[in-house]
Amino acid sequence: MTESDARKLQKKLTSLEKENEQLKRELSGFKDIIDNIKKKPLLIGSVERVLEDGRVIVSHAPGNRIILPPNDLIEPQGGDQVTLHPQSYQILEILSRKIRGHVASMELMESPDVTFEDIGGLDAQIQAIREVVELPMLHPELFEKLGIDPPSGALLSGPPGTGKTLTAKAIANSTNARFIHLVGSDLVQKFIGEGSRMVREVFTLAKENIPAIIFIDEIDAIAIKRTSEVYKGDREVQRTFMQLLSELDGFADTQGIMFVAATNREDVLDPAILRPGRFDRVIRFDLPDEEARRMILKIHTRKMNLKGVNFQDLAKKTEGFSGAHIKALVTEAGIKALRGREENITQHHFNNALTDIIDKEHSVKDYIYS
Ligand SMILES: Nc1ncnc2c1ncn2[C@@H]1O[C@H](COP(=O)(O)OP(=O)(O)OP(=O)(O)O)[C@@H](O)[C@H]1O
Ligand SMILES: [Mg+2]
Repeated sequence: MTESDARKLQKKLTSLEKENEQLKRELSGFKDIIDNIKKKPLLIGSVERVLEDGRVIVSHAPGNRIILPPNDLIEPQGGDQVTLHPQSYQILEILSRKIRGHVASMELMESPDVTFEDIGGLDAQIQAIREVVELPMLHPELFEKLGIDPPSGALLSGPPGTGKTLTAKAIANSTNARFIHLVGSDLVQKFIGEGSRMVREVFTLAKENIPAIIFIDEIDAIAIKRTSEVYKGDREVQRTFMQLLSELDGFADTQGIMFVAATNREDVLDPAILRPGRFDRVIRFDLPDEEARRMILKIHTRKMNLKGVNFQDLAKKTEGFSGAHIKALVTEAGIKALRGREENITQHHFNNALTDIIDKEHSVKDYIYS
């Protein structure tokens, strides 16, 4: 650098420093103005949503909505409570932001403690989910080397109580990923009007918590085919679904984030959900066969004080049971032993429990179908 260059730079620096001082003074002037405004009575509004171009829709009285230009200083989100200037309606501050806390507290889980050893008889499903979810998370380089796109996620499909949620938790454990659990029906029922924002927030949360698995249970509640007989044409569901698709597409290439969804109504799902880059693999679950039932029985009785229990026999007698049914059976047998103040749980307790559960199932069915 020549001496004249140095002088030029020095000059520039001095002028920038001056400008900086000037801006600081202006800023503090503005802050004073804002503080003064804040001392006067203000309006309270709630942000309905933020448009793509940054403009903000705010309602400040029932049925009274306004649209505000983008604001560089304050970044409101849908659902925020804000104060508004009484004349210009400019947003002055964010009073509260509620959903964020919801998402953070109830759906984020450090790696769950379920392992593959806790799952009986789902070897093929476990192998499939490991290939689809675990491999890209733990060894992204394998895909890079081959020049292929890793899968983005899996849909677990099958009847209730067959281990779908269990398997999703186990995969989060084996990949050491955080587990973000969303329930489709909550999105449209519990968070009325906020479903699409919840979806957005959940993906943001995942990005802040890589590696993470986003698990959407009962995905059929939002990703429902428009032609299906259960579709009610709900605008809110529609909007939540659109948001989900756009988030999935936006995150498809993000390393360390995987999507897993579960449903027991694959028949009503909108096929858009299964496109590449979304839930691109379907893993099907079914009721356990005899051998699987025997294994599930073993798993759930691991810590029990058993005496003379014939697993083979019980597995035979539990035809048509799901994993959840078998768990209920084991618990029921335990309760029977407890009631009799006995030290061991025996075949006799299991047989009695079995009769009870089968009776109960029948009465439920009679109730539903009569
Ligand atoms: N294959 C299995 N091995 C061991 N336990 C199982 C198995 N399947 C189900 N269970 C037991 O049943 C319970 C419920 O299973 P899970 O929640 O995984 O079912 P699901 O397939 O997600 O059902 P739903 O469609 O109703 O959500 C589990 O917590 C577990 O105790
Ligand atoms: Mg489940």
